[in-house]
Amino acid sequence: MRRTLIYLILLVAALILIQFIRPENNLGELESETDLVQVSQVPDTLASIFLNSCYDCHSNHTRYPWYGNLAPFSWYLNKHVVEGKAHLNFSSWGLMDKAQKISQLDQICEEISSGSMPLKSYLLIHRSSRLSSHDIMAICNWADSEALEILTGD
Ligand code: HEC
Repeated sequence: MRRTLIYLILLVAALILIQFIRPENNLGELESETDLVQVSQVPDTLASIFLNSCYDCHSNHTRYPWYGNLAPFSWYLNKHVVEGKAHLNFSSWGLMDKAQKISQLDQICEEISSGSMPLKSYLLIHRSSRLSSHDIMAICNWADSEALEILTGD
């Protein structure tokens, strides 16, 4: 009994202590000049799919849930944001060269078609961020024509 109490106190103390280790929040401007929507022709319907299903991890602005600042969840979220942005950041789309854009467009279609993106753990909590097969087809069609335009454009 006494031992259980000691463990409980230690656990609570640990939970309080870890709150001091705070990753930096990803709360940059949502609307930037280099954002995908600003530099490319993205139909509104697709722009809102990206915003709702991808931007939390692939842009400079994350919509944090209520537990977003609570360790250890905050660490877990931060890891996804840092890794996601390292691979693809829609906020700095305009900074990529043609070859990078074309390769990303190809990857985007591949990742959503295989069901790898959005991450499964994210979809468990963000059910409205799931993509329908119609969404996937629309994004892949757009990605193809966007890539073609980049290839043939000046
Ligand atoms: C919960 C966070 C999260 C969400 C939401 C998310 N991603 Fe990702 N994404 C990641 C992480 C982390 C990686 C890198 C590790 C990996 O591939 O699993 C990644 C990798 C990628 C890559 C690979 C890029 C490369 O260079 O290999 C693409 C493309 C991608 N995501 C597209 C998307 C698209 C499109 C959406 C929305 C439909 C999306 N992601 C939603 C976290 C996320």
